[in-house]
Amino acid sequence: MRNITLDNITDAVVSSLGDDISPRNREIMVSALKHIHDFCKETKLSYKEWLEAMEWMRRAGDISDDARNEFILICDIIGVEVLVDMIDQNPTHGETVTTVLGPFYRENPLVLPHGASIVQKDFEDQETVTVRGQIRDTDGNPVAGVTVDVWEDAPNGLYEQQDPAQPDYNLRGRFETDAQGRYEFVAIRPVPYPIPYDGAAGELLNYMGHHPWRPGHIHFLIQKPGYKTLVSQIYDSETEYLDNDSVFAVKEDLIGEMKPSSGGTDLEMEFDFVIRSDAKLRMAAE
Ligand code: BEZ
Ligand code: FE
Repeated sequence: MRNITLDNITDAVVSSLGDDISPRNREIMVSALKHIHDFCKETKLSYKEWLEAMEWMRRAGDISDDARNEFILICDIIGVEVLVDMIDQNPTHGETVTTVLGPFYRENPLVLPHGASIVQKDFEDQETVTVRGQIRDTDGNPVAGVTVDVWEDAPNGLYEQQDPAQPDYNLRGRFETDAQGRYEFVAIRPVPYPIPYDGAAGELLNYMGHHPWRPGHIHFLIQKPGYKTLVSQIYDSETEYLDNDSVFAVKEDLIGEMKPSSGGTDLEMEFDFVIRSDAKLRMAAE
């Protein structure tokens, strides 16, 4: 098409898509092109605003590396990671709901025995909490031998890889469920913390007039061959920001209660998880 106008540019770009691209590529590109073009038209985006956005994206790229993906953080603060997770996971058989992994997971945490503490360094104002529960399948049977990775921030609001004063792998660990499907570990009551806002994601938060804070939570990554991996977070029912999480990851079913403990820690929290076997997944797909 030679005479590109405001009225025909979307069709011109859509019809330029190659004949031999996959149907899925076509579906994604047609929808993306229509929405992006409509967005520019609807907002009457100025050239200056577009250029500022391109510079902002360049800064997002510049600050990203193997350890930091600014684009995921940007998706988090506009609710896109949680949205895609909900579309993709869609728990329909009573499994525990999922939520985002976040940028602070580390591979190969220390493998710890049932009931062990993940606390390698004490903080003055900390409250210790015993976290325990059972992992069951969607038929209610306990699942033994499940790998349970947990990680959380310290009372100063920092994960250990953000804080040179914390020991390596502090406040993270890998546990395994026992014959009754039970897991147990000792942690610290998690506190709210701001997501990294020193880069392009922080600029966007400012643009949106939003704070960077997340409610206090403990992350869980629950895996066993033959079962769907569960990525989730348990939120402290008494933490701030449950109703205005900067990354929109809170779900009512993921709120746990930390109660005064009769055992060796200040608090205790019981939280059970339900995971779905691949066989059930296959049956549902058939
Ligand atoms: C987190 O929970 O660790 C997290 C999730 C999304 C963005 C930043 C942090
Ligand atoms: Fe977190």
